[in-house]
Amino acid sequence: MERIAIFASGTGSNAKKIIEYFKAHPNIEVRLVVANKPDAPVLAMAKQQGVKTLLLDRPGFYQSEGALEALAEAQITFIVLAGFLWLVPPYLVNAYPNRIVNIHPALLPKFGGKGMYGMHVHRAVKETGETNTGITIHLVNEAYDEGDTLFQVRCPVTAADTPEQIAAKVRQLEHVHFAPVIEKYINALNS
Ligand code: GAR
Repeated sequence: MERIAIFASGTGSNAKKIIEYFKAHPNIEVRLVVANKPDAPVLAMAKQQGVKTLLLDRPGFYQSEGALEALAEAQITFIVLAGFLWLVPPYLVNAYPNRIVNIHPALLPKFGGKGMYGMHVHRAVKETGETNTGITIHLVNEAYDEGDTLFQVRCPVTAADTPEQIAAKVRQLEHVHFAPVIEKYINALNS
């Protein structure tokens, strides 16, 4: 049995898709939603879905191994970052080797790194005149957006597209692909 914790800081639209996707799954369960802001809408969504939540505070997350205890208590075996913007500390990367994945709303290595998240990414894509963009699902290591890529898919960007329209196209790709890619990766890990 794989028990997933989803780390998210914002709306949680991807977290919701993942929770729904694994609801009746025989060997993968979303056990916990972890957020770093008390008012993050993802927390209310998780409660509505009947998933336990954990609120992180920065000192606890970085100055001690505080998060590990809560993850162990929930018997978490796999971590999914879905719009989580804090850098994952080394103790957590080491505790879950090859078992933390992130989604990035662009085609890495382009438009990645610190500060490149959400609309910042889509505005940069627009400003540089890219003719396509997409999503990257990748393993997490100790640097932002640098772990091995598991999956990418692209979509066209037209000259008329606004950053908001680019965001909507990318969001749609995320919602279609993220959960199945997680499922496929976990099944491969266990085979
Ligand atoms: C997603 O588009 C995700 O790719 C992005 O945050 C959004 C979260 O949306 N992540 C990053 O930019 C990480 N650098 P959601 O809260 O609706 O799932």
